[in-house]
Amino acid sequence: MHSHLIPGVDDGAKDVQDSIQIISGLKELGFYHLITTPHTLQDIHPNTSETLKTGHLKLQGKLPEGISLNLSSEYYLDEQFQKQLNENSLMPLPGNRLLVEFSQISRPHNLEEVFFDLGIKGYQIILAHPERYLFFHKHFDYYKRIKEMGVELQVNALSLTDHYGKHVKSIAEKLIEKDMIDFIGTDIHHVKHLDSLKKVPYTKHFERLVKSGLLKNKDLTQ
Ligand SMILES: [Fe+2]
Repeated sequence: MHSHLIPGVDDGAKDVQDSIQIISGLKELGFYHLITTPHTLQDIHPNTSETLKTGHLKLQGKLPEGISLNLSSEYYLDEQFQKQLNENSLMPLPGNRLLVEFSQISRPHNLEEVFFDLGIKGYQIILAHPERYLFFHKHFDYYKRIKEMGVELQVNALSLTDHYGKHVKSIAEKLIEKDMIDFIGTDIHHVKHLDSLKKVPYTKHFERLVKSGLLKNKDLTQ
């Protein structure tokens, strides 16, 4: 439910061949229902629903057997996002959910306002990889606050390893210990991530997460 598999639209799959190679690797790992979420980020990947749909069409008829690939986006909370929100041109995940991200270095000043506004407009927010926002690390209560606002949290599978660093791993584990995680995603960008994913160990935290009954990933395939 979090991946970068559309060819040539962001820092994920480069071309159709690359996309198919990653998707085939995911199938080998046991994935069948994929929702891909390329970046929509004004300054670096200024996608629109149209550019993403065009890229998605390039993969039709080429997918490995048994694979479904649905399309949404990982929306960076910037001016372009506000514009697409106002134009009603966003592409939510099932359940009117929006996967969102923002700066990993500094907290947006109006974050709660934006979340509140999206809730009023009927969107359910999923915050992508909350464990990767460094400024949250010293303010764990802030995770609780946004959860209380109804925001769902999506951990990256690779955050359960040292892939993004020990601090990110320890925050991911803490979020799991506190039963605060709603979704797990790969956030896969390229074939090298397949090897990293194969090495994710079945730790006590991973076990707690998958056995918690709290994960809502299946809700997105219905
Ligand atoms: Fe991502």
